[in-house]
Amino acid sequence: MTAVPGSEVAIRATGIVKHFGHLEALRGADLVLRPGQILALVGDNGAGKSTLTKIICGALAPDDGELRFWDEPVRVQSTRHAHELGVYTVYQDLALAPDLSVADNLFLGREAIAGGWQGWFGVLERGAMHVETRAALGRLGINVRNLNVPVRNLSGGQRQALAVARAINWATTAVLMDEPTAALGPMQSAIVYETVKAAAARGLAVLVISHDIPRMLSVAHRIAVMRHGRVITELDAGAVKLADVIGLMLGEEVAA
Ligand SMILES: Nc1ncnc2c1ncn2[C@@H]1O[C@H](COP(=O)(O)OP(=O)(O)OP(=O)(O)O)[C@@H](O)[C@H]1O
Ligand SMILES: [Mg+2]
Repeated sequence: MTAVPGSEVAIRATGIVKHFGHLEALRGADLVLRPGQILALVGDNGAGKSTLTKIICGALAPDDGELRFWDEPVRVQSTRHAHELGVYTVYQDLALAPDLSVADNLFLGREAIAGGWQGWFGVLERGAMHVETRAALGRLGINVRNLNVPVRNLSGGQRQALAVARAINWATTAVLMDEPTAALGPMQSAIVYETVKAAAARGLAVLVISHDIPRMLSVAHRIAVMRHGRVITELDAGAVKLADVIGLMLGEEVAA
């Protein structure tokens, strides 16, 4: 699924509800992702940010609410289904396959979409896979010397960069990133966010979850604030003050 010309909303989540037993993690959450726009989703621990993201990308099923991709109602059945719809996610817990190589991880899950990269990226095509992997990591300023090493041998930061590279490389509609730079140093974080901005400039819709509010104010176009399972407000990142965002996250009134 690719961008529909003139359509200004890539993904719309409306009234999303999710229970975990007696716990109501999401209580009617609404979120809109627009092509070319970076939306930061902020909120206190346990507000429901990761849960909402997992519902949008098919990792969890909602109990209620509606998802629309390019204005079409969809039931995202699985993360594989989300991939087919052009939506890739960087999870807070990364979800790489530790025993597969760096290159295999970059291509992980692509079999379903490409009709079997084993076919066209077969044994003789491993060279092409390596070129693509090296390029995707290189765009993030990462140089992994041996792409055949298992991911469990990478540093936390290298793993995080690989997860971001994979999402940005394959996404055609949206990329959802849950704390994508938590394991990265300041230099590497800056490169990742430059890459994210470039991806948005190419027309991707981007959702970034982060507790680094000052960084979100400079990187994102819009800031959505979540509290107790709902998105309580959405603000223009260029026109809001740090203290106001934190006040909203914690439930105080915004200072005049
Ligand atoms: N699989 C699960 N089973 C039971 N409860 C869960 C599960 N996943 C999340 N929760 C609960 O749902 C609520 C929302 O969790 P969620 O992970 O979405 O929060 P978050 O906003 O991402 O927080 P953080 O900033 O700490 O990552 C929390 O109370 C959490 O304990
Ligand atoms: Mg979370």
